[in-house]
Amino acid sequence: MSEHKPIQKNSAAAIILVVLALSLGYAILRYHIVGPVPWKDFPMFILNKGLCLAAFILLTLNFALGPAKNLGIPVSSGWLKARKALGMSGFLLVLLHVLMSFLLFSPAVYGKFFAENGTLTLYSGLSMLGGVSAFVVLWAYNMSFQTFLREDKAFIQFITSRKFMLFALLLGAAHLFFMGFEGWMKPAGWHGGLPPISLVAFTFFALGYVINLFGRE
Ligand code: HEM
Repeated sequence: MSEHKPIQKNSAAAIILVVLALSLGYAILRYHIVGPVPWKDFPMFILNKGLCLAAFILLTLNFALGPAKNLGIPVSSGWLKARKALGMSGFLLVLLHVLMSFLLFSPAVYGKFFAENGTLTLYSGLSMLGGVSAFVVLWAYNMSFQTFLREDKAFIQFITSRKFMLFALLLGAAHLFFMGFEGWMKPAGWHGGLPPISLVAFTFFALGYVINLFGRE
């Protein structure tokens, strides 16, 4: 008679659904309901904002749950088992964000990123450099789970090392910081008093960074 293994609960689907619902809900509330953006801009401009916020939160959870457990924060085994799916979904959402951003990237949509002569400002250049570098690093991190690379122990050890993770998180943070810090300091201009998505994501980054700094072995 075959032995029954206990069912291993994995909370990935629930976490992904809740993060997506909250992130999209926040983008809709901030830009359409209390903000001035017309609904016709939902399918690309606003959806893009909601999806990249969800991506950022899922990736932060993927990086921070293990170190959080090491710090003695109670993290259930269902959440720990969800990490791989959270990382993969976060990466796919970032891919969507990148493709959508490429299509939208013009002075008419992102006026604040461009100087009068149509070139990028210094801060938006730094922000996009952070974004593309973070994207490449995330790609490398995902590749490290492919079996053909798993043979290469030194590569895996480097890419999953504490130093590399902290560096990767910093690139994502640079993307957000240079894009948003001017608006972060002017709460009077926030739609409905709600902080910008870049600041919400940056707050998750800061929490994840501190947890990684102290909890990653
Ligand atoms: C090729 C790489 C990337 C490009 C070209 C890019 C482009 C952009 C653009 C144009 C925006 C402004 C969106 C807006 O205000 O509506 C943005 C915002 C954002 N991006 Fe990226 N991005 C890239 C990579 C990433 C990565 C790797 C992450 C996450 C790890 C990320 C997360 C975010 C977040 C959370 C925002 C804030 C949205 C907001 O404040 O409205 N991006 N990105």
